[in-house]
Amino acid sequence: MNAGLEQIRQEIISGAEAITTSKEAYEFRKKFLDGKTGKIGLLMREMKNIPPEQRADYGKGVNELKEWALGFLVDLDKKMKAKELQERYEAEKIDISLPAERSEQGNLHPITLIRNQLIDIFAGMGFEIFEGTEIETDYYNFTALNTPKDHPARDMQDTFYLSPEFLLRTQTSAGQIHVMENKKPPIKILSPGKVFRSDDDATHSPMFSQMEGLVVDRGITLCDLRGMLDELVKKIFGEGTKTRLRPSYFPFTEPSVEVDCSCFECGGKGCKLCKGTGWIEILGAGVVNNKVLENCGIDPNEYSGFAFGIGIERIAMLKYGINNIKLLFESDLRVLKQIND
Ligand code: PHE
Repeated sequence: MNAGLEQIRQEIISGAEAITTSKEAYEFRKKFLDGKTGKIGLLMREMKNIPPEQRADYGKGVNELKEWALGFLVDLDKKMKAKELQERYEAEKIDISLPAERSEQGNLHPITLIRNQLIDIFAGMGFEIFEGTEIETDYYNFTALNTPKDHPARDMQDTFYLSPEFLLRTQTSAGQIHVMENKKPPIKILSPGKVFRSDDDATHSPMFSQMEGLVVDRGITLCDLRGMLDELVKKIFGEGTKTRLRPSYFPFTEPSVEVDCSCFECGGKGCKLCKGTGWIEILGAGVVNNKVLENCGIDPNEYSGFAFGIGIERIAMLKYGINNIKLLFESDLRVLKQIND
């Protein structure tokens, strides 16, 4: 083998010692074996300058060197890859004897649970969701709902006024007006949201959640409301639960009713939960007052409707046996963890 070839061989052997990664090995290999720029490749091109009688020997020498270099450098690449794999194994080693990290499992808040459950039930009956705003005008919260200024019914709800015109809505009923102003019957909407009243005791909080329902179409009567409520209470409190309507008063419904369901705790016999009456009040409802339809440009001679308003905290308290509304807002995990269905 001529001295030039031997020199390249030595260069490969000594150069390989400095190689530490497969990437370097790849570059190193290119330096010698690349078809165009590699040192051995260039030797091949030299062939034409070699005197014809030496060509055969020269070619053989270059070929041998090429074969050897290929084997050597493939080997080098394998070694580097094996080393890198080993290093990765070391770096990613897992100590399976370490104690496991505990992950706390959360659950939905009772108010969210009830809200979702109600939405599911009503969506199944074909209701669409309308979400109003928490800040309302006096007009939408009261006046359009047949409760003009100085109407005694305004005293039923202690209102947080932001200005003479704006207030924190006291009831999701305000949403009824927005919907009826913008949509022609048939209307079937459900409007969940927070409402605010200056009221604070074991069963009342200044902020709570309501869910308003409104159905307007030709020929809607109190019977339709009753039928829907029967389905509702069975789904929330269990199959055997019944409803009872008592006369009540809301300015925006006529007639107005207070809806009771048979006590799901004692089955109607009378217990602590139903205060011995066998019935539990669950919501307010009624037939939409003609004046409210007119206020929204809907002809009461053609259309009629019913509306209802459910207090979500109240349902949650009844269903989960919570005796103070504050427990729903304090986020005490000891309480919340017990409620997860
Ligand atoms: N908005 C009433 C309340 O908050 C409830 C209600 C809604 C009553 C719809 C009748 C119809 O007390």
